Amino acid sequence: MAPLSTSPLDIIILAAGKGTRLKSELPKVLHPLFDTPLLGYVVRAAAALNPKRIIVVVGHQKEEVSSAVLAMAKGYPAIEFVTVVQQPQQGTGHAVQCVANAVPDLAQTALLLSGDVPLVTTPDLAGLLSTHQQGGHAVTVMGANVPTSTGYGRLITNNNQLTAIVEEKDASEEERRITCVNAGLYALDTRKTMPLLANLSNSNAQGEWYVTDLVALSLQANHTVGTAMLDNWHTMQGVNTRQDLADCMASLNQRHINTHMANGVTVVSPSNTFIGPHVSIGADTTIYPGCWLAGNTNIGGHCSIGSNATLVNVTVGHNTVITQSTLSDSTVGNHTTVGPYANIRNGSVLGNHVRLGNFVEVKNTTIGDNTNAAHLAYLGDATLGQQINIGAGTIVANYDPVRKQKHPTTVGDNAMVGCNSVLVAPVQVGTNACVAAGSVITQPVSDNALAVARAKGKEIPNWVVKNQPVAAK
Ligand code: UD1
Ligand code: CA
Repeated sequence: MAPLSTSPLDIIILAAGKGTRLKSELPKVLHPLFDTPLLGYVVRAAAALNPKRIIVVVGHQKEEVSSAVLAMAKGYPAIEFVTVVQQPQQGTGHAVQCVANAVPDLAQTALLLSGDVPLVTTPDLAGLLSTHQQGGHAVTVMGANVPTSTGYGRLITNNNQLTAIVEEKDASEEERRITCVNAGLYALDTRKTMPLLANLSNSNAQGEWYVTDLVALSLQANHTVGTAMLDNWHTMQGVNTRQDLADCMASLNQRHINTHMANGVTVVSPSNTFIGPHVSIGADTTIYPGCWLAGNTNIGGHCSIGSNATLVNVTVGHNTVITQSTLSDSTVGNHTTVGPYANIRNGSVLGNHVRLGNFVEVKNTTIGDNTNAAHLAYLGDATLGQQINIGAGTIVANYDPVRKQKHPTTVGDNAMVGCNSVLVAPVQVGTNACVAAGSVITQPVSDNALAVARAKGKEIPNWVVKNQPVAAK
């Protein structure tokens, strides 16, 4: 017989429950940690085991969950994704029964996972599989010793042998004191366990068919059952409440931050910093408190980020300093300074040695090396060359309210745009050109020219004296 480890594997993920305790319009498994829904984490951890299929049980708000599954499936073209509808939702055992009915050719080995236990890792699942296969068990349950067992099913053992799982609502006082609990993650020998589903009963406190009863049923059928204990109980944190969601976020975040710190990144205050799952950071970069780094964000080495910076889908070079600013969907070069209080967005590309200061907004704009906009500017849909100085108060008027469209602006290398200028798009300012302060530029400015577009100043002699107020009598 071929070794089981090379035999096909099916993954079943339970995601049909209502998530009542979250009190949310969004299905529980679609609640995000950073930018990925809970279900996405489970799928990712399982997909790395190269299963044949991932079968997701949907029910409550099944349209939303199914379309999320469809979207996730695009990321794993080698795996077949199947959704099975469980309607109504009568418990985890009933959910598995629905899978058995809908997918008669289940692989002999299947992992049964919960869509609301998101922190599970691929090595944890591989460990569960190997305990299961080595023991030749009917069912192998992943468990852990937890500091607070509230809400979890308790693992009942006799001489270290798992004999049953008792849900909290059905547990005696003594059983409730057990801190060894069910993670809600199982390996199944489907040939041994699927025939037992018919023997499940719903005579319990919740009137539901519990998958956890497969443990006792397997033993009654003279099969063996196994347990795979987790070293780190945080891995099995389940999400039932908003508090659980925050606890999972904290655990996941700590896991990411630990990895970055091990790679040579200084995180000044881990509990006040959030770093998502798809963020890379180079060595000797320091992250100050209050940062939210998410999406596909890649930061080079020797940078200083924060305090209070939000970066989502941003690429940053090395030796760059970003303080108190928000950046999204943009690229920042090396030795560049952004902020405090800058807003960089929508496909902007900043070069090297660029300096953007307080209250500068940059949208869909390319800025060449050594160019500065040190204070109070709006640069939208513009292409700026190198070594340019943008004066305080410069506005690119990119929006045409009549045609309701945005127009482009270009500014050539070495240009100087004086304070409080308005560049009315579409317009071009030439290389080495100069725009006088307070100008409203509506015509192209030639290379090397000075453009002055403001009313000529005049002086009225003795105006103040002549306009003295008449003294009251
Ligand atoms: C379940 C386990 C419990 C374990 C805990 C771990 C049972 C009976 N209990 O309890 O032993 O400690 O997980 O987190 O299994 N679901 C369906 N269809 C249903 C009911 C639930 O698909 O009819 C899905 C839910 O969407 C969820 C998962 O199954 O993703 C677990 O259901 P939930 O109601 O959260 O079970 P717990 O009470 O947490
Ligand atoms: Ca749960």
